[in-house]
Amino acid sequence: MSGPELWLVLAISLDGRLAPVAGGAAQLGGAGDRRALEEALAWADGCLIGASTLRKHGSTCLIHEADLLEQRRLQGRAPQPVAIAVSRSAAWPAELPFFTQPLERWLLAPAAQPDGLEHGAERPLPNGFQRQLPLQAWPDTLASLAAAGLQRLLLLGGAQLAASVLTADAVDGLQLTLCPTLLGGQHTWIPANHLLPQGLERAAWQLEQSRPLGGDEVLLRYRRARSA
Ligand SMILES: NC(=O)c1ccc[n+]([C@@H]2O[C@H](COP(=O)([O-])OP(=O)(O)OC[C@H]3O[C@@H](n4cnc5c(N)ncnc54)[C@H](OP(=O)(O)O)[C@@H]3O)[C@@H](O)[C@H]2O)c1
Repeated sequence: MSGPELWLVLAISLDGRLAPVAGGAAQLGGAGDRRALEEALAWADGCLIGASTLRKHGSTCLIHEADLLEQRRLQGRAPQPVAIAVSRSAAWPAELPFFTQPLERWLLAPAAQPDGLEHGAERPLPNGFQRQLPLQAWPDTLASLAAAGLQRLLLLGGAQLAASVLTADAVDGLQLTLCPTLLGGQHTWIPANHLLPQGLERAAWQLEQSRPLGGDEVLLRYRRARSA
């Protein structure tokens, strides 16, 4: 099985934070960032979202722009990409607005181990999700998402999930909106105490696009440079 293409999409402050000191949603991006985000969503078949982000925000981003919805309709695709919640626990508050959003919800969770042994059985599917896939090593997980028809993936944060997928070197591109604010605090977009493997540093990312988005925001798109 070959893997899908995966882009990490984040809005960050000039000092590389994705959330304010107190945590929770920073509401960092303006109209230009919103358009860039919706264009990325319009490209995607599915979006990976960390459980903590979902619990804190309550919902995920939807495509609202009429031209992007029309583009997907003409392509014969669903209006919204599949939202793929990533979680190791089964704690899903039923009242989250996420569960009434007009999109398909999948869950990536470890296979159940009630006796402490690996036997690969699936957990019962929590209410509100249409499908569950086992959370394994990232290359295997991404290959099974591709096999399930999701070839174009976004990773919408947060920091813990981004760090985990980056550590597996499974991110093909970074789409970062730099927003004209300084937040300070501990919420860097890769957790400050997280160690990345070697090889992701200098020259590992090639600038594919940089453009002003208005409102003093800048979009940066970097593609992972992999040797053939
Ligand atoms: N500025 C932006 O663009 C942006 C985007 C997204 C999020 N954010 C911010 O980011 C913050 C949340 O980020 P976060 O770093 O605290 O949490 P997160 O990455 O959203 O979620 C972490 C959770 O994901 C689940 N998980 C399952 N497998 C995992 C794995 N292999 N690696 C890591 N996590 C895994 C676990 O959930 P369980 O506890 O269920 O096991 C874990 O607790 C919020 O403040 C949010 O506002 C900002």
